[in-house]
Amino acid sequence: MAFSLPKSSPFPLPNPLNLLIFSISILLTLNLILGSEMGSVGNGGNELFPEILRDEAVFRIRELGKVSDREGYLERTFLSPAALRATDLIISWMQDAGLRSWVDQMGNIHGRTESVNSSAEALLIGSHMDTVVDAGMYDGALGVICAISALKALKISGKLQKLYRPVEVIAFSDEEGVRFQSTFLGSAAVAGILPPSTLLATDKSGVTVQNVLRENSFEATIESLGRVKYNPQSVWGYVEVHIEQGPVLETLGYPLGIVKGIAGQTRLKVIVNGVQGHAGTVPMPLRQDPMAAAAELIVTLESLCRKPEKFLTYDNECGCVTKESLAGLVCTVGELSCWPSASNVIPGQVNFTVDVRVIDDKAREAILAELSKQIYWKCDRRMINCTIELKHSAEAVLCDSGLAVQLKQAATSALRKMHGYTPSEMPILMSGAGHDAMAMARLTKVGMLFVRCRGGISHSPEEFVLDDDVWASGLALLHFLEQHVVGDSV
Ligand code: GLV
Ligand code: MN
Ligand code: MN
Repeated sequence: MAFSLPKSSPFPLPNPLNLLIFSISILLTLNLILGSEMGSVGNGGNELFPEILRDEAVFRIRELGKVSDREGYLERTFLSPAALRATDLIISWMQDAGLRSWVDQMGNIHGRTESVNSSAEALLIGSHMDTVVDAGMYDGALGVICAISALKALKISGKLQKLYRPVEVIAFSDEEGVRFQSTFLGSAAVAGILPPSTLLATDKSGVTVQNVLRENSFEATIESLGRVKYNPQSVWGYVEVHIEQGPVLETLGYPLGIVKGIAGQTRLKVIVNGVQGHAGTVPMPLRQDPMAAAAELIVTLESLCRKPEKFLTYDNECGCVTKESLAGLVCTVGELSCWPSASNVIPGQVNFTVDVRVIDDKAREAILAELSKQIYWKCDRRMINCTIELKHSAEAVLCDSGLAVQLKQAATSALRKMHGYTPSEMPILMSGAGHDAMAMARLTKVGMLFVRCRGGISHSPEEFVLDDDVWASGLALLHFLEQHVVGDSV
């Protein structure tokens, strides 16, 4: 961090006023420098730590944002070369915060500090280190870095030795599921819900999860994965800070929000097989064109999710699928490929992905059942062979109400401290995006704090969080730790 001394003449006149100004500027500069290194020790726990929670955290987010497998855009998938470089960086930051660090058998990075009470259950704080393709630099990284920064602030104020329970930061190796189409490889392993068959999942080039792990000197056996799992008895709870990835907080003009729950999600791969042929010679009525079929299926999905009432009959009696249960339903085809992909060839095969999310799990099931009915019916009509593969399914998650209250108090007190007044009631949000907290909810109670992002944009290089909002999120986490994990506060 660069600090500049106040401008002065290189040869100040030795008069008392100049001497006074000179001494004050030295004192101010020393205070800034020491402040950045040591926080404001002795301030009775009221420190704001802008140098760590804002300046250094933002610097680190940008550093991590440069660690990419591609020239010109950010892409860092499970155990890729860039992920390995990022691992070294994150370990060095964990160590700088006074944490003992290690990498587990699924490539997750852990940084832990023990407590005075050696048998106490640990608080886990985390998010993910992988990214989507052409990603923004805050998704995942913000949560990992602001957790490390909050612990560094505790170290500087001498409170790391006074923890009532162990605190562990985890940077999960895979949340996005970009490489193997199977999300939460990292957090699912820690939660002990990763199916052993995941080891045999393949990426686009046919490399399995097991291959990748072994290439990187991990054991990659069912037993080694079993060792990644945490004993629920040893864990008190899991907290995650994450950018909102939507526009609500910005619209409300609020930097932080509390997450009430996370929508369940299903990912499918649809394989549409037609008859490959010559674009110039096969008459239109004789074609079995998988591209046209895929287009029809994709538009059907869009109609189903825009106007589900046109496809489903709501049943208020049994409470199965109601208008309310489908609120917030979103469906996406994000990836499509065709073979052989040439302008003068009717394709032989088209594959596309489907991502369906809604907070009500029964409603999601109803949508998926209707979608598959429509897909098979429309493919039969076109005499095209279609198959649907289930790639990922995660149930909706409700965050723990106790943790939500505690995070809300911590976030409110952080904003009060930053701005000098009590902010209005903090927004409570549902998350349409998936998070490691979904997998961790199978291990322990979870709580999440959302951070405002510009234009609600995420999964894009346009993703942006104000430096002061990064600071607010780190300070909120620090207050949470001070109120619920440090010494006599518990
Ligand atoms: C993760 O970012 C997801 O919700 O897909
Ligand atoms: Mn993401
Ligand atoms: Mn994320």
